[in-house]
Amino acid sequence: MRAGLSHAPARMGLNVTNPLDQLRRCSVAVDLGSARTRVHIKQAGLVVDEPSAVAVNTFSGALIAVGTAAERMDGRTPGHIRVVRPVCNGTVIDIEMAQRMLRALVGTTVRRAWRRRGAMQRAAVTIPHNADPLARSAAVETLTGVGAKQVELVDTPTAAGVGCGLPVEQPEATMILVCGATTTQIAVLSLGAIVSATTVPMGGNTIHHAVVQHLRNHHELILPSQAVRPLHLALTGGNGGTTEVWGRDVATGMARTVCINPDDVRAAIEAPLIGLSDAIRSVLHNCPPDLVADLADSGMVLAGGSAQLPGLDERLRAGTGMPVHIADQPSLCAVNGLAAMVEGQIRPLGAEVH
Ligand SMILES: Nc1ncnc2c1ncn2[C@@H]1O[C@H](COP(=O)(O)OP(=O)(O)OP(=O)(O)O)[C@@H](O)[C@H]1O
Ligand SMILES: [Mg+2]
Repeated sequence: MRAGLSHAPARMGLNVTNPLDQLRRCSVAVDLGSARTRVHIKQAGLVVDEPSAVAVNTFSGALIAVGTAAERMDGRTPGHIRVVRPVCNGTVIDIEMAQRMLRALVGTTVRRAWRRRGAMQRAAVTIPHNADPLARSAAVETLTGVGAKQVELVDTPTAAGVGCGLPVEQPEATMILVCGATTTQIAVLSLGAIVSATTVPMGGNTIHHAVVQHLRNHHELILPSQAVRPLHLALTGGNGGTTEVWGRDVATGMARTVCINPDDVRAAIEAPLIGLSDAIRSVLHNCPPDLVADLADSGMVLAGGSAQLPGLDERLRAGTGMPVHIADQPSLCAVNGLAAMVEGQIRPLGAEVH
């Protein structure tokens, strides 16, 4: 299956023949992630990079906070406030909340600017490569609800590949892993299209939960979410030094600290990482041998926020025997790639084929 730039215009049934032309006519690029939402406006740059979170009053339905402010409230709210995450697994699961979040995040000034330029007439948005029709129409509906007349959908791995500066339009294989919060999308691209791909339900949140679960099972401690990051950082040390974290004792409910060895953390996250290496092998298995040969030299590039997980690159190198590189600014690869498409900075995909 080859599925690179895929389109689901707001007016369904339109026959799109030139994907890049359509994308160049977009003035806003949106990467709606489970963890973060990023919005690039043509000729204005990245105007939003905020957590995909909305805090609402459950009695009145009023919006209390969005983005960073809403995320800060998570886990600390009284009964009448709920923090909602309208995007899960890279797809919009609560269209109304996603629209309210986008409206609030882009703010009045930016909204005015994009209306002046007719920017919101056409919008491009990333979508997981295997998104089903429901997920596709949810993305389209979200964007049309905030003013877009037409919406172009672009596979996240293709956008991220472009954003990492990979030569995705060349007749050679490039492999990208988009390591998000809830999923990792693994894709081999050639001539601007996905040749083989899969999505693993494993991301930064999975690693986070594995560590929390380990502490609960082995140390009877419930970790607050901000205590997990120091444990991740301890993985880079690899010198056996311990890290002290505090949490709530499962039995007594009192706060206490515990010293954790990096090897314990490594063991806790081993299972999801094995799953990731297996998924990479299955993607390669479905690739033509010539493309696999290309990848033996070039290896894979890690994009997405979780690409920064300490030691992930080394673990994948050891698990697959392939070179592994981390993209510059991995969190921004998808939105930057989409931005390059709408700004007309890339050549037509497949243009090198004679
Ligand atoms: N420096 C870091 N070290 C480890 N993990 C990180 C770091 N920075 C971000 N992350 C993790 O990256 C994830 C967010 O990545 P990203 O912004 O690519 O996700 P997303 O696009 O919103 O999610 P998805 O693609 O799954 O919908 C979070 O799980 C976060 O914990
Ligand atoms: Mg993402």
